Amino acid sequence: MALALPARTKRLVLRRFEPQDADIFFGYRNDPAVARLQSWDGITRSAALQFVRVHGAVQAAAPGEWFQIALALAHSNQLVGDVGVCISKDGRTAELGFTLARAHQKSGYAAEGVRCVVGLLFGEPAMGCVIAVTDARNLSACKLLHRLGFQNTATAHRLFKGAQCAEHTFEIMRAVWHRLPAG
Ligand SMILES: CC(C)(COP(=O)(O)OP(=O)(O)OC[C@H]1O[C@@H](n2cnc3c(N)ncnc32)[C@H](O)[C@@H]1OP(=O)(O)O)[C@@H](O)C(=O)NCCC(=O)NCCS
Repeated sequence: MALALPARTKRLVLRRFEPQDADIFFGYRNDPAVARLQSWDGITRSAALQFVRVHGAVQAAAPGEWFQIALALAHSNQLVGDVGVCISKDGRTAELGFTLARAHQKSGYAAEGVRCVVGLLFGEPAMGCVIAVTDARNLSACKLLHRLGFQNTATAHRLFKGAQCAEHTFEIMRAVWHRLPAG
């Protein structure tokens, strides 16, 4: 699925990764507070460079594979975070993940970027449902998803980074998204 990038919101540009993003990406991927409730635990400099190169070159979201969209400030093009998208093989469901560098959290940027990505996904006629899975302790992520109209539809209990945790699945259906007032 070819998402229409770059896309602009009021304060952000959503685009493919660019070579100059590597340092900032390396920085927030290695911030323990950012990684705490994520599936990853940090990244080497060479892996960060490789990530930026590989994801920057991907033209379309291949079914079943994670496609990473860079979130950058519209006025400076500076990277502030990213949204990952994984589209199902039948193209009817997409899963999202999202990360913001700590210095840019609590500014509404993550919600602004995620809202734009959900809109792009539902721009595809076949897309019926967008989901996001998050640790129940991740209150910022839960709040963001609630604010955008997602509903918590399932909770699973599992071992995560050595601790028992509850993992919420949030989802939003196409019809619900289209009924929401423009954000
Ligand atoms: C999850 C995460 C992306 C949420 O980031 P965030 O900045 O809190 O989320 P939002 O973009 O929704 O910002 C909302 C906050 O910005 C504040 N804000 C400030 N200015 C704002 C503005 N102009 N517009 C909107 N909100 C604004 C809101 O009041 C709100 O604060 P609150 O949470 O105290 O109520 C971030 O915590 C993160 O990257 N965590 C680490 C990675 C992670 O765990 N990702 C989730 C995996 S599923």
